Amino acid sequence: MISLEKFSLKIKDRQIFREIDFAIGKGEALGISGSMGSGKTSLLYCMKGIIPHLKRGKTSGKLQINGTEKNKLRKEVGIVFQDPNDQIFSKTVYDEVRFGLKNHGFSGGVLEEKVENALNQVGLWNRKDDDPFELSHGQRQKLAIASVLAMEPEIILLDEPTASLDHRTTLEVYKTLGELRESGKTIVIVEHDTDSLVSFADKFLILDHGLQKAFGDEDVFSLSEVKEAGVKIPWGLKAKQG
Ligand SMILES: Nc1ncnc2c1ncn2[C@@H]1O[C@H](COP(=O)(O)OP(=O)(O)OP(=O)(O)O)[C@@H](O)[C@H]1O
Ligand SMILES: [Mg+2]
Repeated sequence: MISLEKFSLKIKDRQIFREIDFAIGKGEALGISGSMGSGKTSLLYCMKGIIPHLKRGKTSGKLQINGTEKNKLRKEVGIVFQDPNDQIFSKTVYDEVRFGLKNHGFSGGVLEEKVENALNQVGLWNRKDDDPFELSHGQRQKLAIASVLAMEPEIILLDEPTASLDHRTTLEVYKTLGELRESGKTIVIVEHDTDSLVSFADKFLILDHGLQKAFGDEDVFSLSEVKEAGVKIPWGLKAKQG
């Protein structure tokens, strides 16, 4: 479903990351972790097609989604940005979710039903008439997630979606993501909290300074390269290792 082979990115003369190699199948969840500035956000941008379609960057190697390489924005991929303020621009919570759906050609009762479902999924239906900028940062994060969910993309990319959320809201977001997975969606999530990550994802990709330090199941967290990348060993694994 998503496969990268020696996939590299340069922006201007800067090498952002190099030779990323991994593949995940449909319905799998990939967790990406790594140091600040290691290239996580840029990698998601490439998967969605924001780079090179909307932001410049020169890629090499192969990035295939559903077996195709494309140089444009991919409709089958939804992305929740690291900062929800980059994604929200409507006057009301309702319109924010409605906007993308309308662009996808939905109208009438179907459109309304999809908006309502998505807002209910993140618990924001009761705020539908509010200005998104009256919401707390965490609620805005949820709104950004709802706008992406509403479009029902096959693949959902999330860039540190719980970074500014409290514990309870974080659990709620992971619960929603768990339901999406059950329904067969493929999910890629960038997350520093490796405890949340191991309880959710099947595969893990660890980046450090633009290099792939590891890819695999939760055993990657025991590798010395991963520790050196400053990635926290999840509690569960620490206990196992004694
Ligand atoms: N348009 C750009 N022009 C020049 N450098 C860029 C550009 N976009 C990203 N970079 C650089 O690429 C590197 C990786 O950035 P990126 O945002 O992908 O990292 P990240 O792993 O998501 O970091 P963080 O954990 O802080 O979100 C950084 O050094 C950043 O400065
Ligand atoms: Mg980032």
